[in-house]
Order: sequence, then C-alpha cells, then structure tokens
Amino acid sequence: MPNEWRVPLSDLRFGAREFDSIRAALESGWLSQGPLTERFETAFAHYLGVRYAIAVANGTAALHLAYRAIGIGPGDEVICPSMTFVATINAIRYCGAEPVFAEIQDPTHPVLDPYDVARKLTPRTRCIAAVDYGGYPWQIEAICDLAREVGVPVVEDAAHAVGAYRKGRKFGTFGDIGCFSFFSNKNMTTAEGGMVVTDDEGYAARIRLLRSHGMTTGTWERHRSGQGEYDVVDLGYNYRLDEIRSALGLAQLTLLDEYNERRRKLAARYWEILASWTGLDLPFHGELEGSACHILPVLIPRGKDRRDVVARMHAKGIQTSHHYPPVHKLEAYRRLWQQPLPTTEEFGSREITLPLHPHMTSADVDLVCESLVEALA
Ligand SMILES: Cc1ncc(COP(=O)(O)O)c(C=O)c1O
Repeated sequence: MPNEWRVPLSDLRFGAREFDSIRAALESGWLSQGPLTERFETAFAHYLGVRYAIAVANGTAALHLAYRAIGIGPGDEVICPSMTFVATINAIRYCGAEPVFAEIQDPTHPVLDPYDVARKLTPRTRCIAAVDYGGYPWQIEAICDLAREVGVPVVEDAAHAVGAYRKGRKFGTFGDIGCFSFFSNKNMTTAEGGMVVTDDEGYAARIRLLRSHGMTTGTWERHRSGQGEYDVVDLGYNYRLDEIRSALGLAQLTLLDEYNERRRKLAARYWEILASWTGLDLPFHGELEGSACHILPVLIPRGKDRRDVVARMHAKGIQTSHHYPPVHKLEAYRRLWQQPLPTTEEFGSREITLPLHPHMTSADVDLVCESLVEALA
C-alpha cells in the first residue's frame, strides 16, 4: 500500500479469507444484492443477537433509512450530539427535520448527556440520535429510558462500535434502530457499506422497502421466481449493498472479535504510557471491557495549540486525525445553530486521534507516544 507515514492512523491487510470469499462471489455470476447479501445479513443479525439486519450501501444510508422508517419529516426535531461525524446530522436534514444539539457528558465522556437531552425535549421532539463515540461502552441505557418515558424512539449510530458490548448486550441493539458503517477505516470493512439492525418487524419491512426504490420485489427475487411484476409503493432509494462487498463483510466478520481484542491491548498500552503525562486527559481511560476501541482520542492540555501539536507529529511521520470538529461549528451548520455547547467545543479544540489498528505493533505505540510527548514539550 502506498503510504509515507511511519505510523498511519489505520491500515488494511487482507488474507486468504477475504480473497477466497470475493473470488467465490465473482465466480457465482450474480453481483448485485442477492444470496451472499442475505447470508451477510443473517450472520450479522446472529452476531449481534438481533432479529433483523438489513445491509445497505453505507452508514449514512443506514441513518437516512432509520430516520425515514421512524417517519421523521419537516417540523420534527431530532435531539443529537454535535460531537459526531456530520453524517449523523446530515441524514436528519435529508428528511427535512431539524437537529437539536445536546451537550456531551464531560471531556472524558464525549457521549450524549441525558440531563441536557431532557432539557432539549419539546413537543416537536420526534427522535433521539445517540452516537457510540469511539466504540467505547457507555451508559446509553439512560438515554433509552428517557426516550421511552417520553415516547420517542432512539436511533443508535453505532458506526464506531461494531463488536462493542455492555453487560452482555451488543452496541447497536440498545436503540430502537441501530446503524453501522463498514467504511474502510472501520473495525470491519466492506470498502463502502453499512447495516441497519432492529428487533421491530415494522421498521425492518420499511427499511427493506426504502432501500430499493420502494419496490415490492427486488431483482434477485424476480430472477429467482421468474416473476417480472412489481409495484412501487413509496419514495425509496438505491441504497443496496452488492455481493462482492457482502462477501468481504462475511470474511471480515469472522475476524472482528480477534481484531477488537488486539485494539484493546494496544489501547491499554497507550493509556499505560500516557497516563503519567500530566495535563493529558484520556477519554474512557481504563474502560476497556467490551470496547471496540475504534479510535484512540487524547485531549491535549488546555491552552496548547492543537494544530501546532498535530503539525509536529506529522513532521515525525505520525498520522493523526480529529474526532471531531463539532458539527454546529461547521460552515454548513453555523447559521442553523448559534447556541454555545461549551463542553463539546472544548473537547473539539483539544482532541487529537492517535493511530490505532490491529496491525500496529507495541513499538509503533511507543513511537507515537514519544512523538506526542515531544510535540507537547
Ligand atoms: C459516527 C459516524 N456516523 C456515520 C458515519 C457514516 O458512515 P459512512 O461513511 O459509511 O456513510 C460514520 C463514518 O465515518 C461515522 O463515523
């Protein structure tokens, strides 16, 4: 892979499992959504312990379909964090609804604060979007309990949290609908791809319908049955996943637990080294049990210039990222939302994401920590 970084943020390595699986898909002679996609859905539903899993084109499509299945539309409000990837919020606006940003809990737990969510409820609140930041287990039950009390569903954006669990329950299954992304930097990948999961039969049927143009039958079903007739009963999309990607997903799913375990070991090493660095706050420090450790966020000391620290690390060949610039501060959102979110803003201004992927070595972790310490000196 062409890569000039000494330690890249994430890295992909595929083996016989992925190559054989994709070869079999190509040899099958059927490439668009079909039997392998059905197998991928069944395997994913089984892995998560959920009734329905619907494979889709990407995580953003998963979110859009989730909001559509709930029926949110113009005039509705969706309470959501600003500390997330913009897709969580864009998909609310695709439906014509308004995002209402709630605060994160504190600088080491950048997840929805149930008290602020309660304050932001209005008669127009139609849904709460909860994000499993970084794939670290958190008390999402508090959000779900509150949502149930007021009678609105929870869409769980579990893009970071594939394989994460809390008290034996997998993330993505706490909300009424869970959404996953299999983008290439995620803990398991299909290059581009996603999955929507739910225990609700009605939501599942609607998501399946809207995934493929609102058509009453799919191409594979018509091919299999010889029936050429269909009707279109709603305004749907082409959000289907194909057989090649599903084949890759099936292979990646068998490696997920092993890769997540490796991520936890590397996170533990990072924390052990960095905990002694005064002034550095470590989100979710020590909260490893059940974590998918999708990313390794650190908060640099207050008053330090984030961009300067990043530039120094990049000069040393260490790739970093930013999870996230708060959505309400992005150009396309600034005019829509003027209220301050001080904890979110502080988190965004201090956060640097360090490299973390299952193919890193302990020596890579040491190198990254060294470079961070030097960059902060
Ligand atoms: C939290 C979060 N939500 C949604 C998405 C969107 O997923 P995709 O890129 O597959 O559309 C991502 C992907 O980066 C994400 O990190």
